[in-house]
Amino acid sequence: MNNDFENLRKEILVCQKCQLSKQRTNVVFGEGKFDAKIMCIGEGPGRDEDIQGRPFVGRSGQLLDKILGVCGFSRAENVFIGNIVKCRPPENRAPLPQERETCIPYLLKQIEIINPKIIVLLGATALNGLIDPNLKITKVRGNWIEWNGRLAMPTFHPAALLRNPNLKKDSWEDFKKIVQKYRELVDENHKSDYC
Ligand code: URA
Repeated sequence: MNNDFENLRKEILVCQKCQLSKQRTNVVFGEGKFDAKIMCIGEGPGRDEDIQGRPFVGRSGQLLDKILGVCGFSRAENVFIGNIVKCRPPENRAPLPQERETCIPYLLKQIEIINPKIIVLLGATALNGLIDPNLKITKVRGNWIEWNGRLAMPTFHPAALLRNPNLKKDSWEDFKKIVQKYRELVDENHKSDYC
């Protein structure tokens, strides 16, 4: 285990820097390997995540795991999954600007320690929070963004795919690019059922 990572986990698990800490059941630190080459970033914990203290464990999470699995990726092997905010916003509302600003430094530290080659931005909150508040997910999805020496791929949040299955086709195209980039940058022999 990486010491910096474990110290950061301890710090985040007791965080009380914003109002979201008051209503949470659990902080959702994130899950996966501390040296993962791919990092997926979502918005924030929902009800199931708050109860379990783990990211993406509800319906969206099951879909995300399925997509990752078809691409030959998993939390156990090569992906770390985190969020813009680490505590559940009440009623699943989007995190407020002040809540994002307070929490994003934790995400930046996670990125620094994990040092992923590829960052997958799941939806508008991740795209706008990490990269640029003015970008539109519908416009930039599927296009690599160079960010601090890393490559970020914006794509739809799995919850959007559940609401509108017509988006799945585009989403698969995005994940095809992610698999190809992983072969280019990390493992040329990477196996995927999909492409
Ligand atoms: N949606 C998110 O954005 N993050 C989670 O952890 C779960 C659902």
